Amino acid sequence: MNQPAVVDQNVVADDSDVPAHVKNQKLIDWVQRVAALTKPDRIEWCDGSEEEYDRLSQQMVEAGTLKRLNPAKRPNSYLACSDPSDVARVEDRTFICSARPEQAGPTNNWIDPKEMRLTLDGLFDGCMRGRTMFVVPFSMGPLGSPIAHIGVELTDSPYVVINMRIMTRMGRAVYDVLGAGGEFVPCVHSVGAPLSVGQKDVPWPCNDTKYIVHFPESREIWSFGSGYGGNALLGKKCFALRIASTMGRNEGWLAEHMLILGVSSPEGRKYHVAAAFPSACGKTNFAMLIPPQDMSGWKVSTIGDDIAWIKPGRDGRLYAINPEAGYFGVAPGTSEKTNFNAMATLKENVIFTNVALTDEGDVWWEGMTDTPPAHLIDWQGNDWTPDSGKKAAHPNARFTAPAAQCPSIDADWENPAGVAIDAFIFGGRRSDTVPLVTEARNWNEGVYMAATMGSETTAAASGQQGVVRRDPFAMLPFCGYNMSDYFGHWLKVGERLEQLDARLPKFFCVNWFRKGTDGKFVWPGFGDNMRVLSWMIGRIEGTAQGEQHAFGLSPRFEDIDWGALDFTREQFERVISVQDSAWREELELHDELFTKLAQGLPTELAETKAEIEKRLVA
Ligand code: GTP
Ligand code: SPV
Ligand code: MN
Repeated sequence: MNQPAVVDQNVVADDSDVPAHVKNQKLIDWVQRVAALTKPDRIEWCDGSEEEYDRLSQQMVEAGTLKRLNPAKRPNSYLACSDPSDVARVEDRTFICSARPEQAGPTNNWIDPKEMRLTLDGLFDGCMRGRTMFVVPFSMGPLGSPIAHIGVELTDSPYVVINMRIMTRMGRAVYDVLGAGGEFVPCVHSVGAPLSVGQKDVPWPCNDTKYIVHFPESREIWSFGSGYGGNALLGKKCFALRIASTMGRNEGWLAEHMLILGVSSPEGRKYHVAAAFPSACGKTNFAMLIPPQDMSGWKVSTIGDDIAWIKPGRDGRLYAINPEAGYFGVAPGTSEKTNFNAMATLKENVIFTNVALTDEGDVWWEGMTDTPPAHLIDWQGNDWTPDSGKKAAHPNARFTAPAAQCPSIDADWENPAGVAIDAFIFGGRRSDTVPLVTEARNWNEGVYMAATMGSETTAAASGQQGVVRRDPFAMLPFCGYNMSDYFGHWLKVGERLEQLDARLPKFFCVNWFRKGTDGKFVWPGFGDNMRVLSWMIGRIEGTAQGEQHAFGLSPRFEDIDWGALDFTREQFERVISVQDSAWREELELHDELFTKLAQGLPTELAETKAEIEKRLVA
């Protein structure tokens, strides 16, 4: 672990504050080393209790970080509004500091770990002055289960503490599981805004300099300067994806940016699906889908909405668990019509971030209701009316809510054995080119499909929005090692399963986001995505038909259960068509990706591409 360059012996010299139930000397030593570096005024060992949650929340209300919402409208819930410069993940400030640059690969930012440690020692030296350093023990995955992994986050942000309590299994029981000799992933987080004596704090302290740093070899995470989402809640993207993906590669499993759902057919057969869509491209919505009324008998249940850890079982099937305990979901666009289950999940015990405040002390965001309230306080604290000409909520405004509150939660969502996956779905946000749904012919073509996926960028990350970029497996910002090796790892997992002669999951690629000439989405999406899901189940059961094209197999109009939906053949054509010219251009983008990833790129991908090209010509 990192040895701080500067150790100030006067700051935290003894371990008299360490609670008696903390027995792990490695943890105690590390906490003291980090405290000696960061120099907080005090250290608080969090226990995850309700009392602690309420006390920290009350302190943040007094400090202006949180507003308590009207308890009659939204019991036990708060609104936080961030600094306008700190509203999303910062991909250009995210680093994978493996020993050698080729281990991080061309899609990650790499800096020599020795150099990075010097930089961090400088940044973290005294960065918690005037603040409390919280020790936040958490488990990703059900506490004590063989698939779970423990982390400890040291943070100077009480907002992070209360969010971690919802998003992970956080608190005292983690120390019991950790015991005296247990392993944990050390995560250090600071908003990077030390306070001098007598200086008044701001509601959302942060720093213009931001570093989100991962050391895969020592499994350490260091985050500086941001208090927002994936930058700061280190159990989520930093641990459960970037660090866990490297653990998975070494140990033969997968850590993926995937929702997990259960789907039961009218005949009562149940399947499980894991789906990777890039940030703000529909995972939470798909995981909580309510089938349209005319599809009675179908039922969808939610296991996870963002991250899946997937391990091969002895029977040759893949078993997935959701390592998280809450949802950090996109607020804008969420309504009773589009995602009834999410709205029900948000009734109480929620932290909202960067949404608007109503005059009744409740929350609102774009898309929540058809008619906006006549007056609001927007996410930046200004008066807002419908003709203000700006958004009331930030496009990446989020809610933090306990998973257990979701009405569609699956009975097995905490089953440490996980659920057996029948299909993988990959999907991006594409205004054109990519059809509504395509089935891959086999595992390797599925890997190709996922590897070459493109998607328009969204507000979930800072930077330009709406630009198509390759986002392999929706993991571009989250893969903790070389992307070519990651493709190889997926191919190897398939090979091993094939040897076991088990039923392999099918691969599908979807696109809910094709637009018409009017600029509007042609596909109704949301609950109607059930029509696509039921076709997939039909393919798994061997009952549904389709038509082969260059990239795989897609349904014809008559292969979809349209029920009461008024969707014409012409409309269907607009969402399903495969235009050769567009696909030739698309294949050039695949080429660009493969050129970038040339070093170590598995030959299977180039071979698959050659076959697609042959089919396109034919
Ligand atoms: P992250 O939490 O960033 O990983 O996002 P996510 O993949 O969970 O995306 P989410 O389900 O929160 O959806 C993001 C945005 O896309 C929201 O505004 C949704 O309303 C919208 N959306 C989700 N599903 C659909 C769909 O089927 N059609 C359309 N048109 N929009 C959708
Ligand atoms: C995403 O961006 O994919 C998210 C939100 O799920 S964050 O936790 O900020 O990464
Ligand atoms: Mn996500």
